[in-house]
Amino acid sequence: MTTPNITSVLKETRVFPVPEAFAAAAHVTADEHRRLTEWADRDPDGFWGHHAESLHWFQKWDRVFDGSNPPFFKWFTGGTTNASYNCLDRHLNGPHKNKAAIIWEGEPGDTRTLTYQQLHHQVCKFANGLKQLGVGKGDRVTIYMPMTPEAAIAMLACARIGAVHSVVFGGFSAEAVADRNNDAKAKLIITADIGWRRGNAVHLKQNVDEALAKSPTVEKCVVFNRARNTSVHMKPGRDIWWHDLMSDVSADCPAEELDSEHPLFVLYTSGSTGKPKGVLHTTGGYLLGASLTHRWVFDLRDDDVYWCTADVGWVTGHSYIVYGPLANAATVVMYEGAPNHPKEDRFWGIIAKYGVTILYTAPTAIRAFIKWGDQHPNAHDLSSLRLLGSVGEPINPEAWMWYHDVIGKGRCPIVDTWWQTETGAILIAPLPGAIPTKPGSATKPLPGIAAAVVDKDGNDVPANSGGFLVVKRPWPSLMRTIYGDDERFKATYWSQYPQGYYFTADGARQDEDGFIWVMGRVDDVLNVSGHRLSTMEVESALVNHPKVAEAAVVGKPDEIKGEAICCFVTVKQGVTVSDSLKDELKKHVAKEIGALARPDEVRFTDSLPKTRSGKIMRRLLRDIAAGREGKQDTTTLEDFSVLAKLRGDEE
Ligand code: PRX
Repeated sequence: MTTPNITSVLKETRVFPVPEAFAAAAHVTADEHRRLTEWADRDPDGFWGHHAESLHWFQKWDRVFDGSNPPFFKWFTGGTTNASYNCLDRHLNGPHKNKAAIIWEGEPGDTRTLTYQQLHHQVCKFANGLKQLGVGKGDRVTIYMPMTPEAAIAMLACARIGAVHSVVFGGFSAEAVADRNNDAKAKLIITADIGWRRGNAVHLKQNVDEALAKSPTVEKCVVFNRARNTSVHMKPGRDIWWHDLMSDVSADCPAEELDSEHPLFVLYTSGSTGKPKGVLHTTGGYLLGASLTHRWVFDLRDDDVYWCTADVGWVTGHSYIVYGPLANAATVVMYEGAPNHPKEDRFWGIIAKYGVTILYTAPTAIRAFIKWGDQHPNAHDLSSLRLLGSVGEPINPEAWMWYHDVIGKGRCPIVDTWWQTETGAILIAPLPGAIPTKPGSATKPLPGIAAAVVDKDGNDVPANSGGFLVVKRPWPSLMRTIYGDDERFKATYWSQYPQGYYFTADGARQDEDGFIWVMGRVDDVLNVSGHRLSTMEVESALVNHPKVAEAAVVGKPDEIKGEAICCFVTVKQGVTVSDSLKDELKKHVAKEIGALARPDEVRFTDSLPKTRSGKIMRRLLRDIAAGREGKQDTTTLEDFSVLAKLRGDEE
């Protein structure tokens, strides 16, 4: 790497202490946090081995960690376990047997609740159904489902028999499904006739039919009948209705005793270039990461009603809707549809209706709520909430404050959780009973996680200097490889630092208290007059202007400065855009973070191009700002009309 360090210009000084109620009752207090961190640094194997005892093992491991062939690390070798058993069977002999595991609400308003006993029953039957269709240990199964309990049932059924699931987000196209089927050489696909999104039917089975024409390895297709009355094409000999499969299978399906390193799932994530990467996670280490962090970061209590608004198609849905919470016998709320259907208050209605205590959502959703206005949350009783979480992107400090004040009413700590598909579980976050919070900072690495901010040579950078976020020691839930491409795994994550540090590709700085402020992807950094600035920090300055809802900042080639700062801005509802507002915003940024960051150009837009998981696609905006015809891969773009509108603006 030849790039210099990143200059941080964000100045955020607010600190929110740990609320007394949290400190008094927390699983992990400040003292305990210190003790755990020291223990993990001194004796990582002892630390992880101790925590792995919280899972059920059929056979205990011989060795906690095998680092003999880096970067292909192994955890809990010799041990056998099963993720489905840990999420279901072990809860059936105690007080959780009849506890709600999943409380589900469909977008049209239909609801269902499955207790742990009922979920276990369904999973066992479906697992037997998969076996009947010829699926066995190690086979890959694609899951392309709407957000219904059947998505979780399908995942847990695969895990039960040792099949490797590859969940593909229901918003992806037939092309994306075919690519993933082929890369994973999937044997079977599970889908539904349709899913509901913003009042419209998403025709999943139609997409699958198209995908299967190009997916030679897929032999069978199971179809869940979500809409009940739709007539979908069923290909004889290949396609089977979910309910037919379930009608005559036994509910007796003991969980396979699987090696700790048996693959649990592949999840495709788009790289900045090239074809999607199949991130491979295995069983024991992943499940330990997901369950332990879920218990710690959300300070889980037995009576919590926990709602993670992600889709199961993303890693957040894997770790924090399915595996983490169910391993902890939590009650999980699952919602199928859009936050603004039929109205912009849908989420707040759900919180009031089910008495949600923990809400885990994304900055992109929070910025949409801000834009829609406070009247929506204010119309509902949100007093059941006790903890709020954020994931997916850096959260702009002003969006954090809004979340804290308007949703949390100043009572609820916010856990800003930094992690990646690759890390399997949260690595950096405040434990709410231990660590104070600062708006915009994911705060401290969790005990056991050797995250650090370093320069290009791997030296720790001084406090408040920008650098690269790395993890210096392996941890159990780290991905094991890129499916079928060990060389790409090495090149992408391990070639930057010969010391053996895991390279996250994020820029960050650590402040004088050791708090980490993630500045976004290194590829998104601006280079203005020789200073490397984080796009996220300029965006945060824009978002704290009272008229701005959302902003995306990119560099545009400039002969003098190297890069000029170009800002795409969405204003709050009711605000009129004008040239004078453009000037006002430029002045505002210059005042907030210095003349260096004064935008050269401000463009107003109704919406920004985002991936389907809500991340702003700055690389597309870079092309638009530079007036280039984009040659970028747009398969993950959520709404194609946004690009056309932005390009049209230019002419
Ligand atoms: O850039 C970081 C950003 O999202 C990336 C990981 O994306 P993905 O694999 O899709 O996983 C998303 C869910 C974990 C990271 O490299 N990111 C995620 N969470 C945060 C974040 N950036 C700042 N703060 C966060 N809390």
